[in-house]
Amino acid sequence: MAEAGLHNVSFTQSDVNQIASDKPFDAAVGRFILMFLPDPLAVLRSLFQLVRSGGVLASENSFAPFLVLSARLPLWSASASLIFETLQRSGANMEMGLALYRMFPEAGLPLPAMHMEMLLGSDPEFIRWMYDTLCSLRPQVQQAGLSLEKLGDFNTLQERLQDEVTASNNVVTWPAYVRVWARKPTSEASH
Ligand SMILES: C[S@@+](CC[C@H](N)C(=O)[O-])C[C@H]1O[C@@H](n2cnc3c(N)ncnc32)[C@H](O)[C@@H]1O
Repeated sequence: MAEAGLHNVSFTQSDVNQIASDKPFDAAVGRFILMFLPDPLAVLRSLFQLVRSGGVLASENSFAPFLVLSARLPLWSASASLIFETLQRSGANMEMGLALYRMFPEAGLPLPAMHMEMLLGSDPEFIRWMYDTLCSLRPQVQQAGLSLEKLGDFNTLQERLQDEVTASNNVVTWPAYVRVWARKPTSEASH
């Protein structure tokens, strides 16, 4: 920020439940965080208090269309299901994006506007996401009582995923981004 000459920007690191600020924020923006929290509603409520009359925006996830669209490719689908099962068993809400529809009013916000977006691709960089995600989830796969065995030799997984996608002559997707946003009502702004 200093190199860019932006002296009005500061960074702070904290648990999302304990953000401290003496000034209200114009907006709160997050991505793929609420899905991992034990009490996302409490977090939304506290963010609501931190924001002035403006917006709370949370962009979260939906796995359902990813699983459905993955089904035609056996290896890609088995990999997608393993990620889904692992995260779900660890307590993550795999449909947090859609759940925010009812959580926003429960947190005191208006009903949100919503938009779902899915990235599509077939090139090695795109395919690599699946392999990288499984690599980083390896300890959690075991903790969840699941196994990578059904995916075959892990050392050749990336290559076999790529071969499968290339042979299909089609694209695959990543989990959907669900953008969910609402503005804090003006009457609440001075509270
Ligand atoms: C899947 S990553 C998403 C990272 C980033 N927002 C993005 O979209 O690429 C989930 C992030 O949530 C953070 N996280 C989980 N629980 C948190 C908490 N209670 N307070 C703050 N951050 C938390 C993790 O540290 C991790 O960086």
